[in-house]
Amino acid sequence: MMPLIEARDLVRIYHVRRGLFGHPSPVRAVDGISLTVTPGETLGIVGESGSGKSTLGRMLLGIDDADEGEVRFEGRAMPVRGTSDWRKLRAKMQLVYQDPLAALDRRLTIATQLAEPLEIHRLIPNEHRSARVSELMNAVGLRPDQATRFPHELSGGQRQRAVIARAIASRPKLLVCDEPVSALDVSIQAQIVNMLRDLQQQYSIAMVFISHDLKVVRNVADRVAVMYLGRVVEEASSDVIFRSPMHPYTRALVSSVPRPGSPLQARTILQGEPPNPADRPSGCAFHPRCPLAQDLCRATAPVLRPIDDGRTVACHVTTGNDAQKAA
Ligand SMILES: Nc1ncnc2c1ncn2[C@@H]1O[C@H](COP(=O)(O)OP(=O)(O)OP(=O)(O)O)[C@@H](O)[C@H]1O
Ligand SMILES: [Mg+2]
Repeated sequence: MMPLIEARDLVRIYHVRRGLFGHPSPVRAVDGISLTVTPGETLGIVGESGSGKSTLGRMLLGIDDADEGEVRFEGRAMPVRGTSDWRKLRAKMQLVYQDPLAALDRRLTIATQLAEPLEIHRLIPNEHRSARVSELMNAVGLRPDQATRFPHELSGGQRQRAVIARAIASRPKLLVCDEPVSALDVSIQAQIVNMLRDLQQQYSIAMVFISHDLKVVRNVADRVAVMYLGRVVEEASSDVIFRSPMHPYTRALVSSVPRPGSPLQARTILQGEPPNPADRPSGCAFHPRCPLAQDLCRATAPVLRPIDDGRTVACHVTTGNDAQKAA
């Protein structure tokens, strides 16, 4: 199937000052990522804080420019930001992020904010607008009487529902959800995630679902890409990732997810410093924390290689068998 969106060798460099008086030095927050999302599919992106997930998400939407590489949407290069072509395309790709209060305009009622994208993108005739707003509110589980509320009069979960309603108003083909439930009460996270999944099926929307919370990703993703210091170290179907993680980093992440019935001692605890792109280790960036690291890992960065179960992995050492042994 033709990919809906395709990233080719994306690189994003930030110039970051080291210390108060240091010179800015380049930091590769996203360091050569290629991935595709097919229509209607959900790609989960996981990795610790600082691994470049949000930067990647913004690059997919063209909000952040690529320093190298390119993004293609429906087979075409991303138009230049700010042009009318780009705005048209942006209607087809929407971002939902962690903080719904920041995403909403606190001076406008929910109904007004839902009507806005319909108006801007001239999606439906004026006389049908309020019916469409009601339909959107219903689709995300907001009550009709909440139409006249302001954002601060809603709960966090309700606000995120409003943000999602607005995101789907322009009938997007892709939603990039960046930690969409991380700021919400655990008890309502599942409700919002289930709702996203329903909407996605109903409207056949593809989704890039970014989260550091693997429990959430397992519930929503068809495929998962695991990021470490700006690179993908393993990518596979969600089943494969959670059933038989192969990269030592993936293994550590997956084993830290509590599962009913799984013995505690089977967990691998991630040791050492969390990743810092300003101080990338030589060779395989994960080697200082890796239980399987060898000389080769310190010297040379592994490239992603395909494995027969449809997975790709970037590791010199692990094979399915090594991974078993390490457990
Ligand atoms: N505007 C910026 N200027 C300089 N450095 C930045 C900027 N945005 C991000 N970075 C750096 O790039 C790296 C990746 O950041 P990013 O926000 O993409 O990570 P993340 O995986 O989303 O992390 P988190 O899980 O904490 O949200 C980090 O080291 C971060 O400090
Ligand atoms: Mg982030």
